[in-house]
Amino acid sequence: MEKTLVLKGNIIFAESIRELKTLEDGFIVSEDGVVTGVFTQLPRKYQNAEVTDFGDSLIIPGLVDLHVHAPQFAIRGMGMDLELIPWLNQYAFTEEAKYADTEYADTAYSAFCAALKNSATTRASVFASLHVPATEILMNMLEESGLATYVGKVNMDRNCPNHLVEKTCDSASDTEDWIRCSLKSYKNTKPIITPRFVPSCSEELMTALGALAGKYHLPVQSHLSENRDEIKWVKELHPGLETYSDVYDYFGLFGQEPTIMAHCVYLSDYEMDLILKRGVMVAHCPQSNINISSGIAPVRKMLQKGMRVGLGTDIAGGFSISMFRAITDAIQSSKMYAVLIDRNQAPLTLPEAFYMATKGGGSFWGKVGSFEPGFELDAVVIDDGDLNGLSPLTLAQRLERVVHLSEDRHIKAKYVRGETVL
Ligand code: GUN
Ligand code: FE
Repeated sequence: MEKTLVLKGNIIFAESIRELKTLEDGFIVSEDGVVTGVFTQLPRKYQNAEVTDFGDSLIIPGLVDLHVHAPQFAIRGMGMDLELIPWLNQYAFTEEAKYADTEYADTAYSAFCAALKNSATTRASVFASLHVPATEILMNMLEESGLATYVGKVNMDRNCPNHLVEKTCDSASDTEDWIRCSLKSYKNTKPIITPRFVPSCSEELMTALGALAGKYHLPVQSHLSENRDEIKWVKELHPGLETYSDVYDYFGLFGQEPTIMAHCVYLSDYEMDLILKRGVMVAHCPQSNINISSGIAPVRKMLQKGMRVGLGTDIAGGFSISMFRAITDAIQSSKMYAVLIDRNQAPLTLPEAFYMATKGGGSFWGKVGSFEPGFELDAVVIDDGDLNGLSPLTLAQRLERVVHLSEDRHIKAKYVRGETVL
C-alpha cells in the first residue's frame, strides 16, 4: 500500500527561475514521499485520503542550505571585523579544535541540530570538523531530526594550527573508514568528501580524496575563490596551475562527481566556463561575503551563463541560520553589485532568489525543491497571519513579506520526503 499524503493550503513554488506558481486553497498530493500533483480540486482517486488542512497558511517547498559549518554554530556573530584568513585562524579553527572532545561536540551539535530542525530548511550540505567521532555524533543527530543532509568530515593537513591538523595518511584513511561506516548507517544522512579548501590540503591529500570520491561515487564540497588574499595564496602554493579552479580540477575534485563550491566571488570567465562544463554547483553565501568583507559574487552573470547556483548560510561566516535571510541577503547584495559595480547586471528578483533556495539548490539531491510531479515532497507550512497586513495581499506578496520579515518564526509544520519533521 502506498502512503498517500494530502496537504491543503495556499501553495507557492518556483518551477522555473522566472516566475512563482501560486495556487489558492489548493491540494498537494504525494505518494510514498513523491509528489503526484498539485490540484485546485482533489481528484476522485484521492477522495478517501485523509486531508491535512492548513487553512489560510502558505505551503512552500523546504529551503535548501547548500553550505553551512555545524561546528561554527557556537561562534556566530564573532570576529566580524576580520577578513577570511585571520578570522579562520582566530575564530573558526580555535572553535573547531574543541570538537576533539565528544562531550563538547554533543552539547554544541545538539544546539545546531535543534536550530536547523526548527528553521525553514529541509536539506543542507554540512561541513563538520576533522574529528570522526564528533562527525558521527552530528550525523546521528541529523538522522534523528528527519532532515535530509550531506555531512562532510573535514580534511586539512597543512597550513593549520598544530591542534587542528591531520597527518596526510591518517586524514585519507580515517576518511575511508568513516565513509564505509556512514554509508551503511543512515537513510537521510549521507557522507560528502570535504577538503576544507586548497590552502589547507596537501597535493597528496587532494589526490587521495579525489580517488575516494571516484571509488565510492561520493559528492564533493569545498570553498572556491572567496577572498583576494586566499586566491593569491593558492597561486603561490600552486604556481604550475592556471587558476584556483584548475587546482581542484587537477586532483579530481571539480565535478568528476557532483560538486558544490562555496562563494565563487572572484571567478575569471575561464573558471566560470569550467564550472559550467563540469556541472559544478555554486553555493552563493551573501551574508558571509559581507560579514568577512569577501566581496559580492556576480550571481547575475553566473545565471546568464547557465551555471547552477544555490544559496548557503555559511554559518559562521554568516551569523543567521535562516535561509529566508539568505534569500534577502542575496537580493540586497545583488542590488549593491548593480549600483556600485556593474549597471548591466540587474539585481536578483524574489522569484529568482527563491528558486535558488529551493529547486536550484535542491537539484543537488535530484528532484527536490518543487511541487512538480516526481519531486520528493519537502514542504514548509507558514502561518503568516500576523504578517498579512491590513489590506488583502496576493500569495506572491505574502511570500515576499515572509521572506523579509518572518525570521523562521511562523513555521507551523515541516515535511521531508513526505515524513513529518515538525
Ligand atoms: N575557507 C576555508 N574554511 C572556511 C570556513 O570555515 N569558512 C569560510 N567562510 N571560508 C572558509
Ligand atoms: Fe564556508
